Amino acid sequence: MTKSAGRIAATSEGAKAEVESPEEKLWEAVDRHMIRYAGEFVPMLIERASGSYIYDKRGRPILDFTSGQMCATLGHNHPSIIQAIQQSCRGILHLFSWMLSPPVVELCRELASLLPASLQKVMLLSTGGESNEVALRMAKLKTGGFEVVGLTGSYHGLTGGAGASTYAAGRKGYGPAMPGTMVIPAPNCYRCPIRHCTDQCDLTCLESGFELIDGQTVGSPAAFIAEPIISAGGVIVPPPGYFPRLKQLCQARGMLLILDEAQTGLGRLGANFAFEQDGAVPDILTLSKTLGGGLPLSAIVTGAEIEAECYRKGFLHISSHTSDPLPAAVGLAVLEVLSREQLAKRAVRMGEYLKTGLEQLQERYEAVGDVRGRGLLWGVEVVRDRETREPNHKLGSAVSGRCLEHGLSMNIVNFPGMNSVWRIAPPLTVSTQEIDSALTIIDQSLRECLG
Ligand SMILES: Cc1ncc(COP(=O)(O)O)c(C=O)c1O
Repeated sequence: MTKSAGRIAATSEGAKAEVESPEEKLWEAVDRHMIRYAGEFVPMLIERASGSYIYDKRGRPILDFTSGQMCATLGHNHPSIIQAIQQSCRGILHLFSWMLSPPVVELCRELASLLPASLQKVMLLSTGGESNEVALRMAKLKTGGFEVVGLTGSYHGLTGGAGASTYAAGRKGYGPAMPGTMVIPAPNCYRCPIRHCTDQCDLTCLESGFELIDGQTVGSPAAFIAEPIISAGGVIVPPPGYFPRLKQLCQARGMLLILDEAQTGLGRLGANFAFEQDGAVPDILTLSKTLGGGLPLSAIVTGAEIEAECYRKGFLHISSHTSDPLPAAVGLAVLEVLSREQLAKRAVRMGEYLKTGLEQLQERYEAVGDVRGRGLLWGVEVVRDRETREPNHKLGSAVSGRCLEHGLSMNIVNFPGMNSVWRIAPPLTVSTQEIDSALTIIDQSLRECLG
């Protein structure tokens, strides 16, 4: 659809003439000059943002319950982030990648101070995909293997290595994935992938998944990569005990466990890191989205032993923005606000409030099949009826579209082949009033769409 269709306005003579507003001109430029990198663009231009709200060109406020691209955990344009950017402008923004600056060293030290003794070596990068790329490269170099196992529905980025272990989207049409990539079924308790349990998981999918891996391996294991909650793939929450058992299975095979906390790290689930709640410390941790609070910043963290061995073997990964000072200064501000505003604790409190509201919707609407999540990351699965649990894509999309019209932006997981799940993840600074407004909008949109 073109958004640039001309407006018809009356001229002084009463004749009709085509008039194009500045906004229409921009949409025309979109049609002419922009690559559609992920299907359709949202049909509105956003001009500014503050806290939990974004504002379109006409100044209309929209509650942002996707926290931008799941990055703006402090809310949009947090004063501390703005201050860090302004200070960097008076100091330094970018640097030769072999040179270090105080904010970079300080951020590595601050991150390490939040982590256990086995995770004390940090490298700063730009994106989530890049951090996973580096994690996989280090795992391969350390172990000497190349096989990487992941979970169905997971998303780790779309760069070569990370993309090979991304199963939510983007696999078809780009040629072979990395040799040695394998997958086991995600522990989806609402839809048991091996048709074994209902609404609970006894880890049979994990055990039998590893039997499949053992049958396929060519004897060159390197790593298992997983998200603590599979977010883009439908907010799938592994059951208690999943990660400790996964770690045992990895250790028995000489595979390193990489946990990708792009979305779950730094407060969103109610702790600094999800692995603290899950009871298994990874060999390699990757952080991205939430670390930069909206600026491109990511990190990989590992232990001294892995770092030393990779260094000895000549580890190389460099990009134009490795160890850049500006994003590091912003990362320091994010950590400072996280601690000062006690955002992890706030995520627990606000998360409970949001969960209660979503469960009330579930009581009222048959179509709300499942409500699941932790902290301030929630998934709502939309179904035709509770009995069959058949996904209701039409209703899921209609309601999320209607929500946007009423002033609430929330994600719908709509990758082909996925179930219909709304992903609801406001900034951690969200207020109860903002949650109430969002719930009212979802309620109203459901009513309207169900007719
Ligand atoms: C868990 C996870 N890891 C990695 C990525 C990729 O991050 P980026 O888009 O910054 O490369 C994403 C992006 O959605 C993600 O959700």
